[in-house]
Amino acid sequence: DEAGTEVTRAPVVTVMGHVDHGKTSLLDYIRKAKVAGGEAGGITQHIGAYHVETGHGMICFLDTPGHAAFTAMRSRGAKATDIVILVVAADDGVMPQTEEAVEHARAAGVPLVVAVNKMDKEGADPERVKNELSAKNVIPEDWGGDVPFMPVSAKSGEGIDDLLDAVLLQAEMLELKAASDIAARGVVIESSLDKGRGSVATVLVQNGTLKQGDVVLAGLQYGRVRAMLDENGKPALSAGPSIPVEILGLDGLPGSGDDFQVVENEKRAREVAEHRQERDRQARMARQQA
Ligand code: GTP
Ligand code: NA
Ligand code: MG
Repeated sequence: DEAGTEVTRAPVVTVMGHVDHGKTSLLDYIRKAKVAGGEAGGITQHIGAYHVETGHGMICFLDTPGHAAFTAMRSRGAKATDIVILVVAADDGVMPQTEEAVEHARAAGVPLVVAVNKMDKEGADPERVKNELSAKNVIPEDWGGDVPFMPVSAKSGEGIDDLLDAVLLQAEMLELKAASDIAARGVVIESSLDKGRGSVATVLVQNGTLKQGDVVLAGLQYGRVRAMLDENGKPALSAGPSIPVEILGLDGLPGSGDDFQVVENEKRAREVAEHRQERDRQARMARQQA
């Protein structure tokens, strides 16, 4: 693999937390507040990933449908996420899925930033959240630990700029690097079959730059990138590190968490894909016989 010229890349963030604690509301607020020209206000979200420019730096959000997708990716050895924002409703405290999220993040070795949400509500009790998470060994910075706890309201927007700053500070400590002057590789976020467009895959570029016309090997599938769309559904010619993009042109549907990489030509891609498909078929047969 060529190394290319490494520069700092944007952090990739996944939002996790208990049901109804405000994950979607938080992401919606950030998207509406931060997308240039307020354009996102009028459009529905196109793909399950997007990036925002915060003024202090870019952040890429993976809007995976929660723990299932995160777990699926991790079980395939994919590390798509750099930082987890753990959303905890201040009026509800730590709940079973909060604990699950802590376990997932810990097992993946991904640092947490806690968003203590719903601070606008009558019963908000951020100290209780600190106590309950401390009992799970998630210790707030101001209690001598290493986890930032940021009070926010996804309803009013209070505290959200500070939350994004805390995420960027965490990212700085991780010293995230990637090159943009090499062939792309990354991870498949999701894929689906579209009536008109065929196989559509959302991929996150982790290193290098993906370009229209590139030949891509993704899990068991391959194909030439016929078209690329950005997170707003607009045509894109290239996508660099930490940028999610939709690609058209694969011959089938790769799985969530599959690796993708650009290869030199279609012949090579087909050979590797066919080899992988054969290996996959044999593994499935072996499982059936066991
Ligand atoms: P699931 O995806 O179902 O797990 O829920 P979620 O975590 O995405 O929560 P969601 O954003 O759907 O919010 C749940 C409810 O809480 C909605 O009625 C929101 O309007 C409300 N809510 C979210 N954030 C806040 C907040 O900061 N303050 C108040 N008052 N309500 C909020
Ligand atoms: Na909800
Ligand atoms: Mg939601």
